[in-house]
Amino acid sequence: MPFYPEELIEEVRSRNDIVAVIGARVKLTRKGANYFGCCPFHSEKTPSFSVSPSKQMYYCFGCGAGGNVVTFLMNYENYNFTEAMEHLASRVGITLPKREMTSQEKERESLRSRLLQLNGEAAKFYFYQLRGEAGREGLAYLSRRGLSRETLQKFGLGFAPNSYDALYRYLKEKGFSDEELKVGGLARFKEQSGAHDYFRNRVMFPIMDRNSRVIGFGGRVMEPIEPKYLNSPETPLFDKGGNLYALHLARATRRPYLLLCEGYMDVISVHQAGIDAAVASLGTALTGGHALLLKRYTDQVILCYDSDAAGIKAAMRAIPILREAGLGIRVLDLKPYKDPDEFIVHEGTEAFEKRIEDALNFFLYQSDVWKSGYNLQNPAERTAYYKKLAEELVTFEDPLERDNYLSAVCERQEISRERMEGLVGRIGNGRISSERPESVDLSEEALSLRARPERDEGLLTASQVLLNWAATGPASPEKLRETIREEDFPLQLYREIFRYILQEKGQREVLLPATVLNRYLESEEDSKLAAAIFSRSFSESASPAQKSRVLSESLQRLRKAYLQKELQTAGDAKSMQALITEMSRIRSVTIGENLV
Ligand code: UTP
Ligand code: MN
Repeated sequence: MPFYPEELIEEVRSRNDIVAVIGARVKLTRKGANYFGCCPFHSEKTPSFSVSPSKQMYYCFGCGAGGNVVTFLMNYENYNFTEAMEHLASRVGITLPKREMTSQEKERESLRSRLLQLNGEAAKFYFYQLRGEAGREGLAYLSRRGLSRETLQKFGLGFAPNSYDALYRYLKEKGFSDEELKVGGLARFKEQSGAHDYFRNRVMFPIMDRNSRVIGFGGRVMEPIEPKYLNSPETPLFDKGGNLYALHLARATRRPYLLLCEGYMDVISVHQAGIDAAVASLGTALTGGHALLLKRYTDQVILCYDSDAAGIKAAMRAIPILREAGLGIRVLDLKPYKDPDEFIVHEGTEAFEKRIEDALNFFLYQSDVWKSGYNLQNPAERTAYYKKLAEELVTFEDPLERDNYLSAVCERQEISRERMEGLVGRIGNGRISSERPESVDLSEEALSLRARPERDEGLLTASQVLLNWAATGPASPEKLRETIREEDFPLQLYREIFRYILQEKGQREVLLPATVLNRYLESEEDSKLAAAIFSRSFSESASPAQKSRVLSESLQRLRKAYLQKELQTAGDAKSMQALITEMSRIRSVTIGENLV
């Protein structure tokens, strides 16, 4: 969390009514005490996105997105926490304090801001050159490639004149030093010939960060000579692994995916075709940093890499990196064209949209690529291919997901389902047995708990039901403490929230869900998990007896899972015996009607 005190965050949050802020962006209709609309975070036709004025939070019953007014802006506008706070504060006339920077921070900031100015000036220079006498050839080149005036404008395209030091002289005039030009990657200095421009006689693609500030350039030659593109060197501003070309535009797309391309021209072509979701990595291979950056803006990436061998190789490299970041991935087929730019030039927008629709799930794509490495006429090779598929299927930990992929791949590759199931089963078992520690509970439940205690849906739901009651029900903190133990919650986050509820409940008259959510603004995952708690209210008509039963069952469920886990690690017979005794009495753990 940045430097704002908790009370200030709460003040800014509470003065901004969530219904007004969301209502300005999403069409909401009142239904009873709440408002409903179509969820802006996933695509749907029937509204399952709810906004509660009394809780001051939103929650989507379809995709689980949820949070308070701050997280809404962070997700919807893709603001970071500070940006969201600034927006909300200015909306209600609150001035936020500025934090004092350390001298080191100041120095870095001032270099960065100088370099931003430098790049901004250079972009302006190139921009006007393209539109002047020196840029005639550049302009003709870009029109030949089908770019409209409007597109040139939108991407700020420019031209580096065929001169030794035109930019250098321009920037010196503007008051920048040799050192700044050198650090900024715009000029090179040689012993004999002195200063000269880094980019010469090229059409220029300014590269902007996600806040539309120029941080570097790509320059393309106009004749077929190599290297085709020259990119700015890494500078204190230009971090190739941490930025994506055109993200400042694509971040605002309403499409539920981002298209990941290889090249600048591809991105521009796709945008010009009216598809505003394209980005590209900056003349480098995709990194984990890129994947995380993408994940901040979307859940779904569609790979639009070149259809040649190098593009296929790059896609196969990118898939595990994107998967690691938790992104859904599909791969677009461009054949018979080489890249998205060529495809659109020849086939147009509609055909491209169709290819987006038909983009292949990444696993099926991989299964095609792997297949090309085997001679399937040969039985031994065919078996080897099936084994490869089975090995890959085992990497899907969720059994349901694995089963879906298994069905899909068998259908596509015309493999018998039974045969593949058999292979997957054998390989899967091999894995489990090799990792199996000795003498522990091997019941299925215990195994799944050990693998992923925090992912068990039933335990999550039980935790949420209990925490919702703890935060909003009539029980005092003392009573809560007597009833529930912090360690009953399998998730660290939920333990923390429980502690917070105990601490706050005594001090406030009402503990609003939105206030609790203030604490989890910075991680989307945490914010979702926290918001899910408050989607677990009882219906108005639930009787105390019903409530008591649901709460008791939830608590027993958590307690049982906890005891089972303890049992697995219990060191001696005595503590094991104590746990077993407690387990046998678990039915007596209840939450009475007087507390609901
Ligand atoms: P491509 O060679 O696929 O070019 O490089 P392209 O995007 O189709 O370019 P056009 O259509 O011929 O103009 C894809 C990306 O790889 C980087 C650039 O970022 C380029 O956009 N690249 C390529 C370089 O950095 N240097 C090069 O020499 C070539
Ligand atoms: Mn191309």
